[in-house]
Amino acid sequence: MAVPQTLVLTGASRGIGHATARAFAENGWRVITVSRQAFSPRCPWASGPQDHVQCDLGDAASLAEGIAAIRDRLPAGRLDALVNNAAISPKGAGGTRLGVLDSDRDAWLGVFSVNIFAVALLARGLIDLLSAAQGAIVNVTSIAGSRVHPYAGAAYACSKAALLTLTREMAAEFAPRGVRVNAISPGEIDTAILSPGSAAFAEREVPMRRLGRPEEVADGIRFLCGPQASYVNGTELHINGGQHV
Ligand SMILES: NC(=O)c1ccc[n+]([C@@H]2O[C@H](COP(=O)([O-])OP(=O)(O)OC[C@H]3O[C@@H](n4cnc5c(N)ncnc54)[C@H](OP(=O)(O)O)[C@@H]3O)[C@@H](O)[C@H]2O)c1
Repeated sequence: MAVPQTLVLTGASRGIGHATARAFAENGWRVITVSRQAFSPRCPWASGPQDHVQCDLGDAASLAEGIAAIRDRLPAGRLDALVNNAAISPKGAGGTRLGVLDSDRDAWLGVFSVNIFAVALLARGLIDLLSAAQGAIVNVTSIAGSRVHPYAGAAYACSKAALLTLTREMAAEFAPRGVRVNAISPGEIDTAILSPGSAAFAEREVPMRRLGRPEEVADGIRFLCGPQASYVNGTELHINGGQHV
């Protein structure tokens, strides 16, 4: 029997991550999920509970334990894909954006710990396994990384701009090891991270006049991890209904 390809996916418990885990599992992949909360019984894939690593990516000790727990689950020494999807986007009261003046040092550190530092450290902890499989990394950035957004805070936006730069750095550094690295940049996708008013904003500002669906982002992630993208490296794919034009 063929050995299934394996994906490590952060932030799989809801939203884009949940749809991504589902899309890969339905296509025969083994999916190792990583998030703070325990595996949700709502998640439909078979190996879910055994392949869930409970880890706070923003905490250095928890992250180190999480990397060890992921490696324990991969005794064959190979990993086909790593998708860095987990992120935090702190908001003010009523979902308002937190500007520079609203964000203290701890706020910046909290956001960067999850959205940037964990991405670099996970890759560092798993690169030999990815290289053995000639695998791929996909980092989930955001339209907020390239423009001021009415709901995304300053620290979040800066972290997503940095994540695109990190994608570029990784793409150059890891390609000689056989690992491709790309980014997916969603626009307004219908998930819990959105603020009230996002649907109306999308109807006004997005050329396609609607929110995106998590499954539409998952399809892009599958493309970047798959053989059709075998010569795609260091790029950012926009999935936003034309919002970036
Ligand atoms: N939705 C959008 O419109 C949109 C737009 C642009 C970009 N994005 C990006 O797309 C990605 C997914 O967004 P989403 O809307 O699906 O987000 P979401 O619904 O808020 O889900 C975030 C996921 O990250 C996990 N997570 C958060 N903090 C974590 C931590 N410290 N350690 C481990 N896991 C953590 C959460 O699980 P636990 O709570 O169990 O930890 C959850 O599974 C993010 O990178 C986001 O920036 C989304």
